Amino acid sequence: MKFLLSITAGLAMAVASFTSFAAGDIQAGKAAAATCMGCHGAPGMRNAYPTFRIPKLGGQQAEYLALALKAYQSGERVHPTMQAQAGALSDTEITNIAAYLSSLNAPAKSELGDGDAQAGEAKAQVCTSCHGAGGAKPITPQYPILAGQYPDFLAHALSGYKSGVRNNAVMKGFASALSASDIEDLAAYFGSQASNLSTPTNW
Ligand code: HEC
Ligand code: HEC
Repeated sequence: MKFLLSITAGLAMAVASFTSFAAGDIQAGKAAAATCMGCHGAPGMRNAYPTFRIPKLGGQQAEYLALALKAYQSGERVHPTMQAQAGALSDTEITNIAAYLSSLNAPAKSELGDGDAQAGEAKAQVCTSCHGAGGAKPITPQYPILAGQYPDFLAHALSGYKSGVRNNAVMKGFASALSASDIEDLAAYFGSQASNLSTPTNW
């Protein structure tokens, strides 16, 4: 019951935040993203501490990418490197970079990570009501694709919602109920699902 209530609250909040999102200029975005690709275009590159692979952005939903960058700008997401990177961008650059990254389309190399993907599938039912079946087709362009993302990054992000380093009201409700092994299992499940998320190499 508590879980159901929090889903309803989350959905209401999500619906209230819908605004129109302008389509960006892919070519301008490609040029503006050049500095990003040293990290986001280098497969397997890691954040040093805590250690996790730098997220795949190729094929991610444009509107979600723009919202994530704005969350680093506002400090809702705390990560000093990304806050510095996002802080330098204008709204137009954000829209263009988001359009460019989401236009990249290569099949994800799915992975299992450290968790138990089968156990994760059972725990993922509540998640797919927003992130879509397998985490591959979210119900709105504002939500991230989880399928095929690096499992260690998914686990890092979930821990961040739980601890508040990522201050997001919708995800906090779901992440705070998860144990460490739930997080690993969910990361293994979503990381192993098919999608077109990639760390682009051809940029
Ligand atoms: C020095 C390496 C580095 C550079 C350069 C960099 N990033 Fe990041 N980026 C990261 C790391 C590490 C994270 C994970 C941060 C966290 O924990 O939230 C991240 C996260 C993100 C996310 C969130 C993705 C998600 O699914 O939650 C977006 C969007 C993003 N970066 C876009 C950019 C853009 C656009 C640029 C260039 C303007 C850029 N990054 C430059 C390392 C980098
Ligand atoms: C009510 C809708 C909703 C539900 C249910 C939901 N999420 Fe989310 N999820 C979101 C939203 C919105 C975001 C983006 C938050 C932000 O801007 O940081 C998000 C972000 C995430 C991210 C960050 C991905 C990235 O690329 O940074 C992960 C991981 C995630 N969710 C996993 C889950 C898991 C696992 C569950 C189930 C336990 C779940 N979500 C349930 C709406 C939802």
